[in-house]
Amino acid sequence: MYTVKVKIPQTKAIYYPILIGSSTLEKAGNFIKDHTAARKMFVVSNNTVYSLYGEKVRNSLLQAGFDVNFLLLEEGEQYKNINSLEKIWTEAIRLKLERKDAIIALGGGVIGDITGFAAATYLRGVDFIQVPTTFLAQVDSSVGGKVAINHALGKNLIGSFYQPKLVLADISALNTLSPREFKVGLAEVLKYGFIEKTCGLRYFDSSFTDYLIKNKDSIMAIEPSVIENLVKYCCELKASVVNKDEKEAGLRAILNFGHTIGHAIEKCYNYKNINHGEAVAIGMRGAFFLAMQKGLINEKYYENSINLLNQYEMNYKIVKNVSPDSLYKAMHVDKKVRSGKIRFILPANPSEVEIFNDIKEQQVIRSLESLY
Ligand code: NAD
Ligand code: GLY
Repeated sequence: MYTVKVKIPQTKAIYYPILIGSSTLEKAGNFIKDHTAARKMFVVSNNTVYSLYGEKVRNSLLQAGFDVNFLLLEEGEQYKNINSLEKIWTEAIRLKLERKDAIIALGGGVIGDITGFAAATYLRGVDFIQVPTTFLAQVDSSVGGKVAINHALGKNLIGSFYQPKLVLADISALNTLSPREFKVGLAEVLKYGFIEKTCGLRYFDSSFTDYLIKNKDSIMAIEPSVIENLVKYCCELKASVVNKDEKEAGLRAILNFGHTIGHAIEKCYNYKNINHGEAVAIGMRGAFFLAMQKGLINEKYYENSINLLNQYEMNYKIVKNVSPDSLYKAMHVDKKVRSGKIRFILPANPSEVEIFNDIKEQQVIRSLESLY
């Protein structure tokens, strides 16, 4: 079992662990017991995840002596909304969940984000445990304490920072992901390649992007040891950023590389027919295009980066009925906007990014037009 530590300055605990290993869901109860004093567990999941892993987790929690209750939400980004949140609150009240009890998210980033926000707000906060079952959730969304729901007018606009007591990432759960869902996680992995140096960590002899180039075949074949390496390193990179800037006063914004355009795409698609990772992959292409136009990067780095995205089949396009204009408008309703100005995270050097607030409308529109 590999442990990544995330520091949480404002709380009594020095850190919370991300436990990364194989076949850990069947022992979830024992791991969880070590990280909360709660006796009553309220697990939020969906039908797909429950049918695959629900009984395993339920039995393990029962064996560990917990009182266990499940709620299954509807599936998909379009349900990451106030209605699902209300269902969790209502069930928690019905179950008479108390302050000393805990809420567990068993699923991908959607379940993790809504459930985390419910745990943050129910009774002003109860213990929260993340059990991420998608590649995207294991490499990114379960770590760092951002919890939120979408609003019809914008992505993740209603939320909080609420750190879990434990993240339990079972790599074996990734075996049942569809090829599409696996690739969605790869988009965030590639993001970490593009921001590695700015995160301030170095793990491999050469850069993370070199590792991704050299190990492409094993990664695409979902070889467990390589996948585990990716989960470990992405969690280390994210933890190193969150440890320095938990509430996004500055540095943490770099984790949003590709997300300015990505979030606008998700909103303009009404959170349907496109996955978060696919939207971020398009957003990263747009960011590279913008950086080229602004003269921040040279043609060689631009081409190498686009080639890397292509090698990993990240060649998604925006559908024609979503116009560049509507995307540009949507970008103004985003958490990243400062004094009315859209904020972009752009590549500056290989594996380095910088934050920009001064991108001209014409340049943004031109980069959006390149994405169809
Ligand atoms: P998701 O949660 O919708 O899961 C994708 C699909 O995979 C779902 O249909 C789910 O039922 C299914 N699934 C889950 N685990 C499975 C398994 N082991 N086997 C088979 N199927 C499985 O999508 P996602 O990509 O995990 O997460 C995307 C969400 O994460 C977005 O809402 C995004 O905004 C959020 N996010 C949050 C953060 C953060 O820091 N909080 C970071 C990145 C992304
Ligand atoms: N996904 C962006 C962040 O966690 O800050």
